[in-house]
Amino acid sequence: MSGAPLSAVWTLTDVHATRRLGASLGRHCPWSTSGARCLFLSGQLGAGKTTLAAALLAALGVSEAVRSPSYALIEIYGLGARLAVHVDLYRLHGVEELEQLGLRDYLQSDTLLLIEWPEHGAGALPNADLWLHLELPGARALPEAGERPDAGEWPGAGESPGEDGPAGGADGRLCRVQARSIAGEAWLGAVRGELPLSDID
Ligand SMILES: Nc1ncnc2c1ncn2[C@@H]1O[C@H](COP(=O)(O)OP(=O)(O)OP(=O)(O)O)[C@@H](O)[C@H]1O
Ligand SMILES: [Mg+2]
Repeated sequence: MSGAPLSAVWTLTDVHATRRLGASLGRHCPWSTSGARCLFLSGQLGAGKTTLAAALLAALGVSEAVRSPSYALIEIYGLGARLAVHVDLYRLHGVEELEQLGLRDYLQSDTLLLIEWPEHGAGALPNADLWLHLELPGARALPEAGERPDAGEWPGAGESPGEDGPAGGADGRLCRVQARSIAGEAWLGAVRGELPLSDID
């Protein structure tokens, strides 16, 4: 990658908009025959991470109801010859527990890793291709240093959602996305081509 990383900020006016973004990410996932794709999903409790992940997985062909793997921490979905691995690290107790999850076994071709609460596994996770950060209206705009899953800047920092903030009211979310690899740039570029960067409604 050269220059500033490709980024985008979407205002998701309601839950349907969150699902549309998730579905678009699923449709445009640039599968690889030489290693896994990885997407980080951060944002406070109730920000919409699992909603977005579920829509993404549904677009990939997962027909069962997707719930946050809050207790098992990891859920595997077979997609024909492909694999989707949904991880929720909210309740992770240290890096040793992360080792026991065996994420390393899933860094293979035609595999997608969706990782909620990546900041809880900071320093012990694969590199993300895309990093999504969801915000509720009125939430602190960007997490503090020390809560970051890696050393980079937060997605879309400096880009403004507009004077009213996300959706301009109590509902809605802001989603900042940053590409963190060449594959991630292609992925985000394809989603940006499908969904206008203003409100998704
Ligand atoms: N754009 C949106 N506008 C309003 N509500 C939304 C939006 N996107 C998702 N929601 C709602 O937010 C609620 C929480 O969503 P979800 O469970 O996906 O959050 P989460 O980030 O996974 O939370 P947790 O970290 O607690 O697992 C759900 O009721 C969902 O319908
Ligand atoms: Mg969740």
